[in-house]
Amino acid sequence: MIILGIESTADETAICLLKNGTEILDAKIASSLELHKKTKGIVPEISARAHLESIFPMLIDMQKTFDFKLVDKFAVAVGPGLHGSLIVGVEVAKFLSYCYHKPLVPVNHLQAHLFANFITENKPELPAIGLVVSGGHTDLVIIDNSLNIKLLGSTRDDAAGEAFDKVARILLDANYPGGPEIDKVFFENRDKYNKKILARPMLHSKDHEFSFSGLKTSVNQMLKTYDKIEIAVDFQRSVVEVLLKKTLRAYKQFGAKSVVVGGGVSANGLLREEFLNKFKNSVYFPPKGLSLDNAVNIASAAYYLPSRVDLEKIKTVSGLTVEETLGM
Ligand code: KG4
Ligand code: ZN
Repeated sequence: MIILGIESTADETAICLLKNGTEILDAKIASSLELHKKTKGIVPEISARAHLESIFPMLIDMQKTFDFKLVDKFAVAVGPGLHGSLIVGVEVAKFLSYCYHKPLVPVNHLQAHLFANFITENKPELPAIGLVVSGGHTDLVIIDNSLNIKLLGSTRDDAAGEAFDKVARILLDANYPGGPEIDKVFFENRDKYNKKILARPMLHSKDHEFSFSGLKTSVNQMLKTYDKIEIAVDFQRSVVEVLLKKTLRAYKQFGAKSVVVGGGVSANGLLREEFLNKFKNSVYFPPKGLSLDNAVNIASAAYYLPSRVDLEKIKTVSGLTVEETLGM
């Protein structure tokens, strides 16, 4: 089973060939991040154009070493994401599927982040609690024995990654993505600073929801009293503590057998350390390079969920169902 995956939800244009759900035959990725640095944030129009410019040369390059006639399925991220960017990936995927007479599997980008954990031989045991922590989302889900995914709770305001990005800009004057900058500063200074400065938002709430926007406000207030680096260290501790405690609560409540983490923030060093301490070998992180947006996640999700995608229910960012977007 060879799946050609396409990802174009935000600033990464990515394509890959995944064999039998585990073997990456090829994976290409182009990022328009540098373009967005100039504008200090993603301009949707620029992102969409960048996808259009990258995707065809990447596919042509891939075709030089692999005959697309051998592809069994095409898979594409259909959202959530930027409208113009999504259209590029979806239209190209439709075209390929039409030309090669092979099925097209629409994939939810957030679910795909979790399926990054399924490409190794050592698979997470089910039922599992899934934690998606990306630049735009913070979701706790339960994945049942049949791989159905149910949302337990989300952030009420900013996503974890968004909080990292905003706080990194305030404290370190960092460009997007700010998460890796805070992470670096944390490990350079963790031994020096132990003081709890910031709140741990919604730590004790009994639901599965999060809230990170208040942290940004507290960070601004603490600037009068504390050193920027000291605040950054405690900020990382605060976010990780909340994510860990809430994941643990859901894990116990649902009698889950494992925890799978996905999305850009799953690359965070302290998060990995603390989750590994708590869940030992029951916690799964994406293999190197698959935490951030990529096409392998998309192909992996399509490998596991080929017939389970409920086209009626998944709406793309345009508000249309996938069937409508794909013109089916
Ligand atoms: O999943 P992703 O690549 O894109 C979205 O779907 O949003 O996640 C990007 C987010 C950014 O907010 C970035 O700051 C954050 O992931 N991130 C990190 C780290 N690496 C990336 N946050 C904390 N620590 C990191 N090491
Ligand atoms: Zn993502």
